[in-house]
Amino acid sequence: MIKTNPLLDSIEGTQIREIYGLLNEGDINFSLGIPNFPPPQHVKDAISRANEENYGHFYGPAKGSLELRQEIKEHYNTEYSQDLKIENIVITAGCTGSLHCMRLLKALANEHDKKVMVPELYFPAHVSQAISLGIKPVYTNLNKNFHLDLNKLEANIQKYKPQSIIINSPNNPTGVVYSGNELGKMVEICSENNVFIESDEVYMGYILDGNKHNPISRFANLDEAMIHNSFSKWASMTGDRIGFTIADKCLIDKLGKVSNNSITCPNTLGQYGALEFLKEWNESKEFLKDKQKKLKETRDYMIPRLNGMGLKCKKSEGSFFEYVEINEDIEVDGPYDIKSLNLAYKFLENGVGVAPDVDFSSPDSPLRGNYMRVSFSVTKHGEKITEDIPYIEYTKEGLEKMENTLNS
Ligand SMILES: Cc1ncc(COP(=O)(O)O)c(C=O)c1O
Repeated sequence: MIKTNPLLDSIEGTQIREIYGLLNEGDINFSLGIPNFPPPQHVKDAISRANEENYGHFYGPAKGSLELRQEIKEHYNTEYSQDLKIENIVITAGCTGSLHCMRLLKALANEHDKKVMVPELYFPAHVSQAISLGIKPVYTNLNKNFHLDLNKLEANIQKYKPQSIIINSPNNPTGVVYSGNELGKMVEICSENNVFIESDEVYMGYILDGNKHNPISRFANLDEAMIHNSFSKWASMTGDRIGFTIADKCLIDKLGKVSNNSITCPNTLGQYGALEFLKEWNESKEFLKDKQKKLKETRDYMIPRLNGMGLKCKKSEGSFFEYVEINEDIEVDGPYDIKSLNLAYKFLENGVGVAPDVDFSSPDSPLRGNYMRVSFSVTKHGEKITEDIPYIEYTKEGLEKMENTLNS
């Protein structure tokens, strides 16, 4: 048999994917982190026009279209008072592509320097990408509100001596949004300890209670930090695979080479959609405002009902997720010795998909076993995504099924 990278065997597929694969048509899906609305009409039109012009026929530039890089630069400089140059931006195959290119760069960089710090709870790929390339993930703690525990951060950095840390705000799975103050202090600690910051900001379009997004580049220089981002959630175009990295020019040049070797160039047609999203920013802003309102409405409907059934949660500040704690007095039997997994599969039997905590925590974590992520970007499995999904009806249906499961 052909020999392959043995490290890949140590990575398990996520339970989110497993559960998603087992959903039946008509089941309520609270498990995936995808927007429950289509891309804005002007973005779809731009992609159609580009297709009609046969632009999909071409390979584009390896680092992505100059026009799109230019527009991203302008956007950050205008919206966040940055001083970015086009050389600070590379277009990637989604945010995942940006993260993976960076891991590939680090994997072979220095044999003695192969640790990445991740706050636990985490987005699964932040850990699995590292493991698959022989980089050791080391963890730092959150406080009880799921924000970074800054005291422990310093101690953990000194204990594990990682070369970099990956943070994520707005956060998947917790819904936490780090404040400017928090980010400033984190940058100070990382800078003093020579730890490079990678900031995954893929949910920046979904801060739900009026605060503005804080890119890490407002608090750190580009020799201390970088941004991984994408249009996947921002413009609801997850399938188009358009992401971007913001970093120091030297790093961008290297990331461009890695990306070029992986994918030749980013998806040409998708880049036209992303370009339109930024060029017609006023229209896109209205789109985001409308979607944030709908997500907020769903979140606010969901929280008291989840709390009422013994699934305790705080109000998510951003992203699409509530991270719920299963009440101690809820007993669940099942084939696993992990309560959250048993409960997730019980919900699945009753027509609801949720994401159990095992995907977001390491095996020894105290945060493993009693939690689950519930997405308020709700869909009905097998149904096409349209503008007018009856999202509150679906949410009610899903929550009723969960209540029935817990009462049975
Ligand atoms: C925190 C986080 N980062 C990155 C991604 C992947 O983004 P993309 O689809 O742009 O690769 C996701 C997707 O769910 C995510 O939740």
